[in-house]
Amino acid sequence: MSDSDDDVPTLSAHTLAALQEFLSETGSDQPHSTEPSDQFAVGAVEEDWRMSQFWYSDETATKLAEEVIREAGEGGRIACVSAPSVYQKLKQGVVDGSDRVSAVVLEYDRRFASYGDDFIFYDYSEPLSFQSRVAPQSFDVVLADPPYLSEECLGKVAKTIKYLSKGKVLLCTGAIMESVAKDLLDLKMCSFLPQHKRNLSNEFRCFVNYQSRLLSC
Ligand SMILES: C[S@@+](CC[C@H](N)C(=O)[O-])C[C@H]1O[C@@H](n2cnc3c(N)ncnc32)[C@H](O)[C@@H]1O
Repeated sequence: MSDSDDDVPTLSAHTLAALQEFLSETGSDQPHSTEPSDQFAVGAVEEDWRMSQFWYSDETATKLAEEVIREAGEGGRIACVSAPSVYQKLKQGVVDGSDRVSAVVLEYDRRFASYGDDFIFYDYSEPLSFQSRVAPQSFDVVLADPPYLSEECLGKVAKTIKYLSKGKVLLCTGAIMESVAKDLLDLKMCSFLPQHKRNLSNEFRCFVNYQSRLLSC
C-alpha cells in the first residue's frame, strides 16, 4: 500500500471549513505564528499538515506522558517516535515523575532540532538510519504515532520500534490499523481515546503490548 492522500489523518469537514474561512479572512496560507513562551508547550511548534502533523490535546499529551513515566520506571528511558507532543509534555516539568526519566524525540521535522541532543532526525522510509547514534534495545518504553495510516508506513515504523525497544510499546494510530498492529507487534487496542487539538475524522486509538491502565479507561 502506498502513502496516498487517503492514508493521511484528515480534519473533519466542519473543522476544515472553519480553517478555510480563517485563512481567507486573514489572507494567509499558513497557520498563525504566535510564539508561545514555553518552548515545551504542546503546540509550541505549529502544526504543518504537509507533514501529517496533528498534535494531541494537552490532556491527551499529559495522559500519555503519565503512562510512559509509570511504565518506564525510575531512571527509565523513553523514545517518542513521530510523537513530539509527548516528548514536550515530558520535558515541560508539569507531570509528576518526569524528572526521574529521560526522553528523546525521533522526528522528521527539523524544527524540533531546537531540543538539542534529545532530537534524533528520523525518516520512517529509512527505519534504521539513526543506528549510529542510538544503541539497540535501549529504551524502556517506545511510543510511536506514525505519519500515515498504511501498512507500508506501519511496517517500517515497526522495524524502528523493534530496534529501539526493550519490550514495552505504545502505538497511537488509526483504529483501522488494528489488525496490522496485532500482526506486526502483537499490540492490543486500548479503550482510552486519544484526542487532538483539532477534531480528526479518523477514529484514533492507542495500542499496547503490556498490561496498561489505558486498556480499560
Ligand atoms: C500523526 S502526527 C503524530 C503527532 C502526535 N499526534 C503528537 O501530537 O505528537 C505524525 C508525525 O510524523 C512526523 N512525520 C512526518 N513525516 C515523517 C517521516 N517521513 N518520517 C517520520 N516521521 C514523520 C510528523 O512531523 C508528525 O510529528
